[in-house]
Amino acid sequence: MSAGCVHINGEFVELDEAKISIFDTGFLHSDVVYDVTSSWQGYIFKLDQHLERFATSCDGFRLKNPYSDAETAAILAECTVRAECEDASFIHMHVTRGLYAEGSRDPRLCENQFAAYVVPYVWLWGEEKSKAGINIHMADVERISSKAVDARYKNFHWGDLIQAQYQAYEANRDDAALLAADGNLAEGPGFNIWVVKDGKCATPDANCLLGMSRQSVIELCGMEGIPFELRKVHPDELREADEAFATSTAGGVMPITAVDDKPLGNGAPGILTSRLFDSYWSRREAGWCGTKISDLLN
Ligand SMILES: Cc1ncc(COP(=O)(O)O)c(C=O)c1O
Repeated sequence: MSAGCVHINGEFVELDEAKISIFDTGFLHSDVVYDVTSSWQGYIFKLDQHLERFATSCDGFRLKNPYSDAETAAILAECTVRAECEDASFIHMHVTRGLYAEGSRDPRLCENQFAAYVVPYVWLWGEEKSKAGINIHMADVERISSKAVDARYKNFHWGDLIQAQYQAYEANRDDAALLAADGNLAEGPGFNIWVVKDGKCATPDANCLLGMSRQSVIELCGMEGIPFELRKVHPDELREADEAFATSTAGGVMPITAVDDKPLGNGAPGILTSRLFDSYWSRREAGWCGTKISDLLN
């Protein structure tokens, strides 16, 4: 049995006891929304903001979390304690449409199902590369249009992201950046993308998840006096950036040190990237934007 804890069907169970029906439409049709936060040093990061984004994703998909925000928070806290990783955890929650009523294909008749799990903290590219930086591949798989599946609602439509990852691996690169239909940068599999040129940061303003770590970098830029822009970002701006980085709950601020094998700058994490990385993690160590897990337990 590996470390972690799952809350499913109203119960806390071990990871290998957590089961979902193959007839759940979350599995059959990716009819599911989710959210992921993390805990660090006993604090859950931006819990209220994650619950708010989760509720927005549920509304956007016409799903309903059977638990209130307070109940969800208490479940996540207890799951984290049972997983014994309050000091560094990855906290996932989702709501699936659930099972079709017998003989029906009407999604309105499904009873929506909540589940959550907590496992030790996950670094998107492994801890070493998430800190040292990666070589990103400019994928020619287009990011699914937000007119089809709105990227602001955190969802399981990952077919495009995963095919882009395969392209990256086949080119011996670490991960992929996807473009939107308009040819501008969208995002990557599990991360937002930032470019830095002449001391100014920029990240796409559309066709991407409104990442909580992206929002954190916006706040850090404000606190550190670093200029930033939310706007369309052309892929050439990533290719020609002084530095670049990705943001994700699974790693915080992560350097991108090469694009299609071509090093950015001197090929090491950039100065602003390192400053934002240090700022993010030193604040997380100190409980920045955190809710104390013990305060959430009944
Ligand atoms: C497609 C996508 N974009 C961006 C992100 C980064 O979002 P956050 O900073 O909230 O983890 C994620 C996280 O899983 C994601 O799946």
